[in-house]
Amino acid sequence: MLKIGFIGWRGMVGSVLMERMRQERDFHGFEPLFFTTSSVGASGPDVGQGSAPLKDAHDIGSLSKLDVIVTCQGGDYTQRVFLDLRKQGWKGYWIDAASTLRMEKESIIILDPVNRYVIDAGLKSGIRNYVGGNCTVSLMLMALAGLFANNLVEWLSSMTYQAASGAGANNMRELVAQMAALGKASGKLLENPSSTALEIDRLITGELRGGKLPTEYFGVPLAASLIPWIDRAVEMGQTREEWKGYAETNKILDTRDPIPVDGICVRVSSMRCHSQAFTIKLKKDVPLDEVTDMIRSANEWVKVVPNDKESTIHELTPAAISGTLTVPIGRIRKMLLGPQYLTAFSCGDQLLWGAAEPLRRMLRILIEHLG
Ligand code: HSE
Repeated sequence: MLKIGFIGWRGMVGSVLMERMRQERDFHGFEPLFFTTSSVGASGPDVGQGSAPLKDAHDIGSLSKLDVIVTCQGGDYTQRVFLDLRKQGWKGYWIDAASTLRMEKESIIILDPVNRYVIDAGLKSGIRNYVGGNCTVSLMLMALAGLFANNLVEWLSSMTYQAASGAGANNMRELVAQMAALGKASGKLLENPSSTALEIDRLITGELRGGKLPTEYFGVPLAASLIPWIDRAVEMGQTREEWKGYAETNKILDTRDPIPVDGICVRVSSMRCHSQAFTIKLKKDVPLDEVTDMIRSANEWVKVVPNDKESTIHELTPAAISGTLTVPIGRIRKMLLGPQYLTAFSCGDQLLWGAAEPLRRMLRILIEHLG
């Protein structure tokens, strides 16, 4: 029976992965082993076969007995352990949520509803590293898969509205703590029906600039504001998050002629859903209904939202889709820029399709492949 090790299963992405695996009754047909970086010997989770003591996630000897390792432990862990394991001749499969190995030649970025053909070719040719993509890129591809599959995208610009969850669990807490502080500070004015919006605004702006809001993780207030910078600077004035749009999209699709993808990535005060506004230059003028049909029929999770106010405000928001696998895309229309220019807006759960779900599905694909 296959031995499959799980590392980082208690963190945010790992917990979502465990939850999804339980929901889908994935814990069968293999022996699951749970590892820890901090509490070796403590009792592990019971996923239907009883609980066993947690093993040491740094013990190369134990790790090298595994057929598959699934890690959501983060990039530092991958950096520390992966090369040692391979150097010692480990030939197992490594499924990883972290970005460390994504762009390696010997890695495939996994998003099977979009690039199953790349995954299958990789398995056939003996590739052993399968890495989840950047959340924004994966969610963009889930929404626009139909256009890429029909080879219609000449270039694409994505302006993002990224949730706090993408920055980490501490950042989510900090965002809510900022909101709570603002709520508390403005409570009296809100209760008073004769207070004006400008008074409330003055108070909130004072709080935002007053230096008392918790900002340990974001560095500045995000609540009642936004941050147009994600990750570190790279070349040409881009951030690394923006660079991933181009690099990862083309790697996921295994394009022969790279498709230009660029935009500005912005952190907003959503909890766990990333949204994006697209400007797309199509390779040719295709009627809007045909474009919409292509988008709609690409996979079972993408959902076209009619371009009207009621549908949009109820179906195309983080509040509407958080915690679901649905990837709504709406506001689809041709732009005044010309008939080959398309715009659309999409939303998706950063922790599901943006992180845990491609890993869960890759594990199923791999088990089938090895079985
Ligand atoms: N880098 C993403 C973000 C996280 O900051 O939102 C998901 O890859």
